[in-house]
Amino acid sequence: MKVLITGATGLVGKALTAKLLERGDEVNYLTTSKSKVENQKNFNGFVWNPKREEIDKACFDGVECIINLAGASVAERWTSEHKKAILNSRIDSLNLLYKSLSEINHEVNHLVSASAIGVYPSSLTRLYDEAETDLSHDFLGHVVQEWEKASSQFENLNINVAQLRIGVVLSADGGALEQMAKPIKNYVGATLGSGQQWQSWIHIKDLASMFCHVMDEALTGVYNAVAPNPVNNKKLTKTIAKQLNKPLLLPPVPKFALKLLLGEMAQIVLGSQLVSADKIQQEGFVFEYAHIEKALEDIYNKKAAKK
Ligand SMILES: NC(=O)c1ccc[n+]([C@@H]2O[C@H](COP(=O)([O-])OP(=O)(O)OC[C@H]3O[C@@H](n4cnc5c(N)ncnc54)[C@H](OP(=O)(O)O)[C@@H]3O)[C@@H](O)[C@H]2O)c1
Repeated sequence: MKVLITGATGLVGKALTAKLLERGDEVNYLTTSKSKVENQKNFNGFVWNPKREEIDKACFDGVECIINLAGASVAERWTSEHKKAILNSRIDSLNLLYKSLSEINHEVNHLVSASAIGVYPSSLTRLYDEAETDLSHDFLGHVVQEWEKASSQFENLNINVAQLRIGVVLSADGGALEQMAKPIKNYVGATLGSGQQWQSWIHIKDLASMFCHVMDEALTGVYNAVAPNPVNNKKLTKTIAKQLNKPLLLPPVPKFALKLLLGEMAQIVLGSQLVSADKIQQEGFVFEYAHIEKALEDIYNKKAAKK
């Protein structure tokens, strides 16, 4: 199949692109940086600028499925300017794709868009599934709801829409795990806050496979993209330390210190989302990494092998 990916140059996009090319799919991708354009057999880059509504419409030629991952990073300091970029980059990207498709003849019949588990209100006790109607009203919750709204509009063009609410992506190539592991490697690692907050994680390989599964099975609707066995921050921190063979010497970092250090962004590390993976499993998806120990073992073995 020919697939168009936005955000293909990011953490998730790179893993997904590699998987699609390995399977023999053809990949077009949209990037905001001219320098990231490559043209190879079955792998072609096109430039766009969602803010300025500029796009090379040749990117849609022969494409049946769009996978949308584009968006400014949530891991940069949340100044009021960057908060605008976090929201607007996601909405502008989808709106530009929508506008472009409504102006041309095309073969796109499926949009699979990234979303995030930050849409669920922070809770230590509730287990969230996709039918949840009580959604979060904090900054991330608002962003995700607007993001999902913008992707749902493609149904007006008779394009099937699926949204994957992604949890904390664990990868050997950066992202959240690298940030969590850094202090542990330097002997200043510690549980964050009470350590009781749930962290619903997913191994990047499983996430790439899940995007493919949703695409292959032409699934529509919302799916949580998290492994079936979430852990709390204390267990995650301990498991990373064990894998790295480092002791945890310091007491937990108090909530107020994290809030002072990170500002509103502390929401990312202190928020608690216990999220169910049942729905995607009922659609026949099988996780390769269902338990945190096995996932981290794979990631750190791979890192060691690369050195
Ligand atoms: N990683 C996680 O733990 C996680 C968890 C939940 C949800 N998600 C969501 O899943 C998606 C992919 O995650 P990721 O970790 O791969 O993100 P990432 O590494 O930050 O990559 C996102 C990509 O989006 C593009 N981008 C950045 N700013 C943009 C802008 N202003 N306008 C249009 N495109 C822009 C960039 O591609 P170009 O430079 O090529 O344009 C970048 O490579 C993101 O939307 C993220 O919010 C990720």
